[in-house]
Amino acid sequence: KKLPPTIIFIFGGSGDLTKRKLIPALYNLYLDHFMPEKYIVVGIGRSPVSDEDYRSKLLEGMEEFSRRKDHNGKSWPAFAENVFYQSRDLESDESYKGIYEYIEQQGKTWGVQPNVMFYLSVAPQLAPVIATKLAQHKICDDTQHTRIVFEKPFGHDLQSAKELNKLLDSLFKEEQIYRIDHYLGKETVQNILAFRFANALFEPIWNNHYIDHIQITAAETIGVEDRGGYYDQSGALRDMVQNHVLQLLCMIAMEPPTSFDSNEIRNKKVDVLSAIRRINVEDVHENAVRGQYAAGWQKGKEVPGYREEKGVEPDSPVETFVAAKFFVDNWRWKNVPFYIRTGKRLHEKTTLVTIQFKEAPHYSFPAEAADTWRPNRLTFSIQPQMDIRIRFQAKRPGTEMVLTPVDMVFNYAEAYEEQEPEAYETLLEDVIEGNQTLFMRADQVEAAWEVITPILEAWHKRAPVDFANYSPDSWGPEDAEALIARDGHFWANLPTNTGKSGS
Ligand code: BG6
Repeated sequence: KKLPPTIIFIFGGSGDLTKRKLIPALYNLYLDHFMPEKYIVVGIGRSPVSDEDYRSKLLEGMEEFSRRKDHNGKSWPAFAENVFYQSRDLESDESYKGIYEYIEQQGKTWGVQPNVMFYLSVAPQLAPVIATKLAQHKICDDTQHTRIVFEKPFGHDLQSAKELNKLLDSLFKEEQIYRIDHYLGKETVQNILAFRFANALFEPIWNNHYIDHIQITAAETIGVEDRGGYYDQSGALRDMVQNHVLQLLCMIAMEPPTSFDSNEIRNKKVDVLSAIRRINVEDVHENAVRGQYAAGWQKGKEVPGYREEKGVEPDSPVETFVAAKFFVDNWRWKNVPFYIRTGKRLHEKTTLVTIQFKEAPHYSFPAEAADTWRPNRLTFSIQPQMDIRIRFQAKRPGTEMVLTPVDMVFNYAEAYEEQEPEAYETLLEDVIEGNQTLFMRADQVEAAWEVITPILEAWHKRAPVDFANYSPDSWGPEDAEALIARDGHFWANLPTNTGKSGS
């Protein structure tokens, strides 16, 4: 593909995301020949750093974080010679005049008008300032050639998200705005769409006649690490549910799109978000559980409790775990519960989506065989294990009729030689190419905030009385088990091939 010459400005160029994700992603795109032939990457930060020192810092990041380790030969220097650093005060007009001139100058050197990407990887309060200045200085006037990428958080609540959208709407065209949700760039997440809509087998049973309930788990073993200051203003509901978990839910619940057009796909997702039943503030305690991790041991290591983490208030009411039950009030999903849970310092790093089918309508086997009889279940293992598996019943070898659940597994590593790209590679390539399908549109962001607003309100009104309420290395507070057990179900953990798994 021939891509137009491109300049990529990264605001927050000396930050963690740049080193961990953005530069490794751009470098991997470069190795795969997905970068434009002519490109420049400019990291913008506060402190003065030479280009040389900047590149060496980035190289250290590559050694640690890049999925490909072939940066010791000629490729890295060849890539990095187009990477520069500029120290700029992001609130001063001079900086933006400088950026304007830089683009003009580069356009002259290349002899064409370049595409320009502005990637805002900055503290949330800075994003509106930068956006406004970029617009004031007419740097983004050419709506064909300029794109602006926003990292989360996109607002702190519905009100602030609306204000931010309103501001951006007054400054840019929606086609220029790329709101990142990195889960959408994950290979296994995109494959949910392929699985559902490129196969005729499953869609006829993808509804409340055949599906009993759905579970989404996004579990992490890490604590808040060095992000306590940010996290204590946020919590798991804002940090994970408003974006990643609800996006996964949309992929599972959306209607078939008529085309792969970015707005068509996003319309279908907004339909799901709008159909999610709003929980009454008074009913939140029945439908949502919050948790906070205590100090303890995890995988043989002593770890601090959330309230002891750096940047966290010693009596913080902020949740590091959420479990909730939602309903999608439409024809397809009537009365099918969607259980979601996410948290830090849990037993395993795993993201799973489980489609639990109803039992077979009639049980015709001997009574003794019923003990291990389980309804069908389809599991998307999103990460770190990457597979799709269908649980079905098989006859255990032997003279008696004994049924056991077994898994039919599609495993990415076995099926494909290619290594999957990192989410940020896919997403950055999409921005370079101008494809917004995997990015959040303004109404999508607001609809997602609307879903969690009652929970935020209820929790804000009533401080938690039992924090910290779960131990590291567990599956969260007991109430999370109760939330799903009340309906006669259990949380599904990572399936194994032993034939003994699950509920
Ligand atoms: C981020 C959250 O969006 O996603 C983090 O801010 C979280 O708190 C991370 O750790 C999880 O991403 P992944 O790709 O590791 O599942």
